[in-house]
Parts: sequence; structure tokens; C-alpha cells
Amino acid sequence: MWEITSADLREQAYQNSLDNPEAFWANIAEQFTWQKPWNKVLSYSFSPYHLTWFEGAKLNMTENCLDRHLPKHKDKVAIIFEPNNPKEKTKKITYEKLLQEVCTWANMLVQEGVKKGDRVCIYMPMIPEAVYAMLACARIGAIHSVIFGGFAAQSIQDRLLDATCTFVITADGAYRGDKFIPLKENIDQALQAKTSVQKVIVCQHSHSEVFMQKDRDFYAEPLLEKYRTDFIPASSMDAEDALFILYTSGSTGKPKGVVHSTAGYMVYTAYSFKNVFQYQDGDVYFCTADIGWITGHSYNVYAPLLLGATLVLFEGTPTYPNPSRWWDIVEKHKVNIFYTAPTAIRSLMAFGDEPLKGKDLSSLKVLGCVGEPLNQEAWHWYFEKIGASKCPIVDTWWQTETGGILISAMAHISPCIPTYATKPLPGVQMVLVDEHGEVLHTNPASGYLCLAFPVPSLLRTTYNDHARCEQSYFKTYPNLYFTGDGAQRDEAGNYRITGRVDDVLNVSGHRIGTAELEDAINLHPKVLESAVVGFAHPIKGEGIYAFVISHEDIKTLGAEIHALVQKQIGAIAKPDKIQVVTGLPRTRSGKIMRRILRKLAQGETEHLGDTSTLVDASVIDAIKEGLLM
Ligand code: PRX
Repeated sequence: MWEITSADLREQAYQNSLDNPEAFWANIAEQFTWQKPWNKVLSYSFSPYHLTWFEGAKLNMTENCLDRHLPKHKDKVAIIFEPNNPKEKTKKITYEKLLQEVCTWANMLVQEGVKKGDRVCIYMPMIPEAVYAMLACARIGAIHSVIFGGFAAQSIQDRLLDATCTFVITADGAYRGDKFIPLKENIDQALQAKTSVQKVIVCQHSHSEVFMQKDRDFYAEPLLEKYRTDFIPASSMDAEDALFILYTSGSTGKPKGVVHSTAGYMVYTAYSFKNVFQYQDGDVYFCTADIGWITGHSYNVYAPLLLGATLVLFEGTPTYPNPSRWWDIVEKHKVNIFYTAPTAIRSLMAFGDEPLKGKDLSSLKVLGCVGEPLNQEAWHWYFEKIGASKCPIVDTWWQTETGGILISAMAHISPCIPTYATKPLPGVQMVLVDEHGEVLHTNPASGYLCLAFPVPSLLRTTYNDHARCEQSYFKTYPNLYFTGDGAQRDEAGNYRITGRVDDVLNVSGHRIGTAELEDAINLHPKVLESAVVGFAHPIKGEGIYAFVISHEDIKTLGAEIHALVQKQIGAIAKPDKIQVVTGLPRTRSGKIMRRILRKLAQGETEHLGDTSTLVDASVIDAIKEGLLM
């Protein structure tokens, strides 16, 4: 059931997917180009965890994203590139040109020593070269690990080491808005440790002066000239070969490298893109997500190219040079489908209606959002002011680990309900369980959100640490994949996501593990210990409140912690509030009672729940006195 074009068909497809999941997915998979067909559609177990889809099949992702569109769409624009600075020129890259660029990049990587299965780190701004680099890896069977440009040297280093990357592709530097990001310098710092990186390929983008280490660092442009070609054949990949690694935060320790497969990821992202957004041939699609996140991978690069769509790739920020920027882009390129994050909607809403004056947004047909709950007020603003009350808003729920959208309305097909992601897509079996892991069968219900049956794009492992993958997702509730989210389900079976129930924060749609952040803060020599919790924030969704134990009364502690976090993780993880405390609420076994800290951070000082297991209740009074509201 590749095309779902009515509510009835959605219901029917859902039933088909329950009755015969293998036939359901095989039928969708037939849309694609396979070098060799599969022998078996699915085999899996959740305990121990293993998953294979389309076993025995051979394919290449880029043949499906590029080559197969050429007979019909050679001159069709694949990428409309909008630079950070609106005074610079828009670039349009056709499917034919994109294939040539990808082949040139692929040729360069091979000639310079990248082999099938090697891990290649991509640390780039949102420019076409980033897409060329990703697709070039896919063309030759190298595994890309894209690192968000906002991450600092230490985070880059951790990821390079974990994935034992041999190549890095970066740029000299880039502007995001008026802020300069010294990409190459960050890479240089990351490479101060001993890593397996042999070569660093540097795109000249900001044309700023950078350090180039002899025999390690090479400018991309002369190499590309040297290896320019119109075509190289796509390598033959097994269905289950890894396409990429993407790091994401968990509730403990360092970020984990989520590994996605080739075939399952391809089939699922294309299917979900087509049906959720009801993409039609000729639509112009604009997703604002950075390629450093999963939304950037799945719905800014792979899925739209798999559908032969025209996508807008935007380098800049929504407020530079002014908060009309996105709307200017929508008007200029007559964007039909627009996909963004609730935080961005809220921050633009705060500018009022002025930035929208005189903007022609009438080309818009479908709006989408992802990453965090979209609150009522923001929903209405988005619906009325951006969509002129005629565009459905698909509130899409999914995760880095699921690779693609699992719960969503389908535009113009199934109803959109403010603050609800609504229903699981056909092929997706979500359940709610209570704290004992009992599946809740009746409606309405409220519980922990789990997946009861694998989707093709579910993560296969966490890189180099399968035990961690099993522990993180498959051990909490037997025979279920646990998402880490809580949710409610209404009478009609619509899901409303209430947020993370583990120690992961969702700040402006970015996942930040509290343990990772506390580790960074604790590096400060004057900090004895810290505990980080989230609190409701009007723009970011969730803000970061850090309680730090320090006996030194230094005025500069806050600024120093900010600098430290920026250096260790990146600016996105800087706490909004830092309170110096003398102690933290603990149980007798020494465990910090975060539940209480969360309430305090929220300004709730009366109803703190059960405090009988606290060792020393006086610490709470002390914290209350110094609360930052
Ligand atoms: O808590 C959920 C929230 O974002 C988490 C996944 O984060 P990440 O892996 O970074 O992927 C974000 C982009 C797919 C989820 O566990 N989340 C995602 N979408 C929604 C959401 N919360 C509420 N509503 C959504 N639509």
C-alpha cells in the first residue's frame, strides 16, 4: 500500500499491516530499485534483539535517490540552496547535476582511500556539499556519521573515537546568522587526541584562514577537480549494511551511536514521507532541520530525494537578517510543504505578526512539526497565520532510533488534532504500558509508549555496543521497544505525547542527557556535584535548571560553567539557571531525588510528594530559599 489517499485506505492499510506485515512491507518495497531481490522480508527477536528486513537483497541508496529519477527528471531541480546571507545567490541543482556531484565526491573519496564500511565523519554547514558528502558515502558503501555543527570539539572527539572514523569532511568555517562557526578549528581541537582519522577534507566556504596540517588536511576543491567524473557505478550493498551512524543522548553516559540499515531505512522513510505529507510530484518541500539531526537525515535528504522531490536547503537561521526570513523563502520558492520544530514556531510567534506582513504564503498546502509537543497557542498561530487556516498541521512523533515518523496524521486524509500526534501509521504497532509493563488495552489510557512490532527503519544496534542497545530499549519491558516517552491515548485511540520519562531533556527539540551534562559541569574544580533537571520554558519547551554543590562563593561560577559546557558539549546544552546549593535531596541509599528537584525548578514548593525517604529534609528548605524563578 504505497499510496494512501483516503481515510478508508488508511484504515484498510492499517488492518493489512496487522494481518500480514511481511506482505504489507514487501508491497511497498517493490517501488524501489533492487539490484537483487530479497529472500525473506523480516526476521526478528526483541530478546535478544536482532532485526533484519529484506534479507538477501542488494541495493544502493543513491541509485534510488538519484539514478532512477534521471530518465524522467534529469532537469528537475533536486536542491534549491538558500545561503545564510540573502544577498548571496540561490543555487539550483538538478537531479542530473546532483548525480554528477555525488559521483565526483564518491570518486574522490575512493581515490583518497575510503573503503566500503569505513566510517566518515561529516561536520558541515547546511550547504549542498554536505548532501554530496552524505550521498557519496552511501554510493561507495562508507558509513557516514554526521555531527551537528553546533557541537564542540570534545563532543566531536568522543564521536570520532567511538566510531573509529578514518576520514573527516568539514568546511573552513560558516556563518549561522551573524555568528561565525569555526568548523575546521573545532576539528583541529578534536584531533588533538589520538584518533584513527587519516585525512581531513576541507571545503572552502567562509574562505577564512585555517590551519592545514601537511599530509592530513586537504582542500576539497582541487581534489574534486582532479577526480571530476560524470558517473561512477553505485556499490552493491546488502539490505542490512549500515547506512549511517547518528549519535544521540541517552539517560546514562556518553551519547550512543544509533545505527541505521540501508534497505529498511530507505523503504520506511520514503513511505512515511509520501503519505504523511501527501507529497505530490512537483511539490516544493522545505524542511528546516539541520542535517546534523535525524530529521535532517530522513526528511531533508533521503526521503525527499527518494521521491524525486525538489527540496529547499537553507543554510541560515529563521531570524537572520530578520524574522521574515523563512517566509521570504516560502514566498520566493512557492513552497508547498513546510516542516519545522515547535521551538522555532514559538520563537517566531514571539515577534508578532509584523514579519508576516505582505508575505504571500498561499503556495503552502501542508505544515508539519516534530521534536517536541506543539502547544495549543503555537498550534493556532501556525495554523492561522502561516497556513491561513487551510493547511493541515501534521504533528509527527518519532525518534532518532525509529529513523522515520511513527505516529502522525496524514495531511488532508486523517484529522489533525491540536497537541495530538494522533494515530500510528499503518505498519506501526504502538502500545501503552503501565509501570508493571502491562499493556493497556482500553481507551482512554495513559502510560509508557512502546513499540510492539518492528518497523523497517528501527535502529539495528548502537555502534560497537549491542548490549547497550538492548539495555536501553528492550530490557525495560519484555518483548517491547521502549521509547522513553510517556503518552496519553484518547477514546478514539489518538496519541498525545507528554514527554520523556527518563533522564533525557528535550531543549528546543534537542535531546540532552542529564548525566552527560552533569559530567561536564562536574569537571569544574569548584563544583563538588550537580543535578540537572528540566523546567517548562515558554520558547524552548524545556529549559535547563542546574543545581550545583559548591562551597566556594565565586561570583563567576555561572559564567565558568557556561564556558565549560560550551566547550564540552556545545552552546545548546548551556543551563538557563544555575543555583548554588549546599546539598541535594537524597534517599538513604544516596540517590538524588530528581522528582523533587523537578518540582522545585518548576516553582512548586508546597506539594513535593512523598519526602519520607529523604535523609535530610533541611536541604530542601535551603534550596527553596535560593530558587531562581
Ligand atoms: O520525546 C520525544 C520528542 O523527541 C524525542 C526524540 O528526539 P530525537 O531522537 O532527537 O528526534 C527528534 C526528531 C524526530 C522523542 O522521544 N518528540 C519527537 N517528536 C515529538 C516529540 N514529542 C512530542 N511530539 C512530537 N511530535
